[in-house]
Amino acid sequence: MKILAIETSCDETSAAVVEDGRRVLSNVVLSQIDMHADYGGVVPEIASRQHVEAIIPVVKECLKQSCVKKEEIDAVAASAAPGLIGALLVGLNFGKSFSYALSVPFIPIHHVRGHIAANYLTYPDLKPPFLCLTVSGGHTMIVEVKDYTDILVVGSTRDDAAGEAFDKTARVLGLGYPGGAKIDRLSVGGDDKKYKFPCATVDGSPFDFSFSGLKTAAINLIHNSEQKKEPLDLPSVAASFSKAVSDSLVPRFLEAAKIKGYKTIAVCGGVSANSRLRADLENGANKEGMKLYLPELKFCSDNAAMIGAQAYYEFLDGNTAPLSQNAEATKPIDESFYSLE
Ligand code: KG4
Ligand code: ZN
Repeated sequence: MKILAIETSCDETSAAVVEDGRRVLSNVVLSQIDMHADYGGVVPEIASRQHVEAIIPVVKECLKQSCVKKEEIDAVAASAAPGLIGALLVGLNFGKSFSYALSVPFIPIHHVRGHIAANYLTYPDLKPPFLCLTVSGGHTMIVEVKDYTDILVVGSTRDDAAGEAFDKTARVLGLGYPGGAKIDRLSVGGDDKKYKFPCATVDGSPFDFSFSGLKTAAINLIHNSEQKKEPLDLPSVAASFSKAVSDSLVPRFLEAAKIKGYKTIAVCGGVSANSRLRADLENGANKEGMKLYLPELKFCSDNAAMIGAQAYYEFLDGNTAPLSQNAEATKPIDESFYSLE
């Protein structure tokens, strides 16, 4: 089954053709980063306009690269939630229109379920059940993937997402947007013990996270050094900060896996590209005798191939939608899509 998948939830316009949820025939990703960099973050109105301009050329290029004719497409899928509402609507409306024109089913996809499914593209042998750490710019969660479409939240952030903490700290350091990858690169050779950052826990909720204190501590350190005119050792700030994020995530995630009885664990989302996090997860999983799945770097950040992977399993579960399907800016990962019809 060949699915044309669309992703426009934030600042990437992406289209992919994915066969049977596992085989990527093409995956075109057009990033808008340059359009937003001057503003230090994604400007929703600019994102929507860029998606409108890019969606048709990106889909055309994706079909061309896949060598699949549009008449051979069996279903169309698009991210429908969560994300920037104007941005989501561009991909969703394009996807619905295209499915109508081709007379094939339309499949709405929860963006974070797509991130989890990125692992299916990298590992043909990976099947639920497994425990997954989803860490991106908008989400930080531990979820039980009981089955492809049966997902249960075990813990989540009470305030900022891990990626948001990276991005805001990078902005104050003057590294620009998006900052996660820049902090990651800067941390090479830094001393991760030089600066002390807090690693917050949430009373009574051992698998929840909190990153706002860490973000504030980093911002205060940078402002204090500027006021006192005492320059920071930037690689060590980046290394210490990355360690604090990883220390907040990894032990809690491994503990959740132990308590819930999972020997198979995975990670996904933009922050799963972080080298410190990947190394700590690998060490931790080895020590605990767990099998760890890390998605390929190209599938960590937003892309349509992961949407196409999840769409296959949603389709098998009957989760198609009529043309009245709407987009939603926020939506729990364990809630099914519903139609206004
Ligand atoms: O999954 P994603 O592309 O978009 C959302 O769904 O949010 O994640 C983007 C986030 C950004 O916050 C970005 O700074 C972060 O992932 N990120 C990283 C790295 N690469 C991307 N954070 C830490 N280290 C990285 N290497
Ligand atoms: Zn994402």
